[in-house]
Amino acid sequence: MTSNPKGKFISFEGIDGAGKSTHIAFVAETLAALGKRVVSSREPGGTAVGEKLRDLLLHEKMHLETEALLMFASRREHIAQVIEPALARGDWVISDRFTDASFAYQGGGRGLDRAKMEALENWVHPHLQPDLTLLFDVPLEVARARLDATRTLDKFEQEQADFFSACRNEYLRRAAQFPQRIVVIDSTQSIAAIRAQIGTILQELL
Ligand code: TYD
Repeated sequence: MTSNPKGKFISFEGIDGAGKSTHIAFVAETLAALGKRVVSSREPGGTAVGEKLRDLLLHEKMHLETEALLMFASRREHIAQVIEPALARGDWVISDRFTDASFAYQGGGRGLDRAKMEALENWVHPHLQPDLTLLFDVPLEVARARLDATRTLDKFEQEQADFFSACRNEYLRRAAQFPQRIVVIDSTQSIAAIRAQIGTILQELL
């Protein structure tokens, strides 16, 4: 069924309101149509323990370092229970956020020392990185306008413009640091244009 039995790991990133959710479904459908087995997951969360941590992380105020540690605790569980077993089976893993989000939000947004972030990354996944990261990038005003005002915003979504500006800058810094892994997608484009771009990127990965 597949020419390449080995699965790949794709993560999706961007500030809240950048529009990644729309495209995650598209990537899952595209890969499934090509005969790939796809495991869709998210962070924080993706496991029973991780979803409990997500509930705390998205709704409780806490010390910055507690927040970073819990993000990585959720990630440790996610890697052990979901990501590594799936990749070992040859499945594809698509994750709504991974470690770049910790660098962007806890590092950029909240200002946690980058050396501490790197220490956590080296502890929790010294040998694992996504094969591909799609970073959906939009100006802050566009992202804010896209947040659904009819629902209650979570702890992060309630942050102010300077927080998201710092998150976005850190995402772009990571993209410049790891250009072979992270592809920046101009998320102000039409959905059709973004789908076409993603289609080309997936072809290269296959
Ligand atoms: P998000 O992925 O935007 O989910 P939804 O589309 O359901 O709102 O929500 C997760 C939030 O968690 C988001 O605001 C970013 C934040 N986050 C961090 O601050 N650090 C991390 O390491 C991760 C994975 C997420």
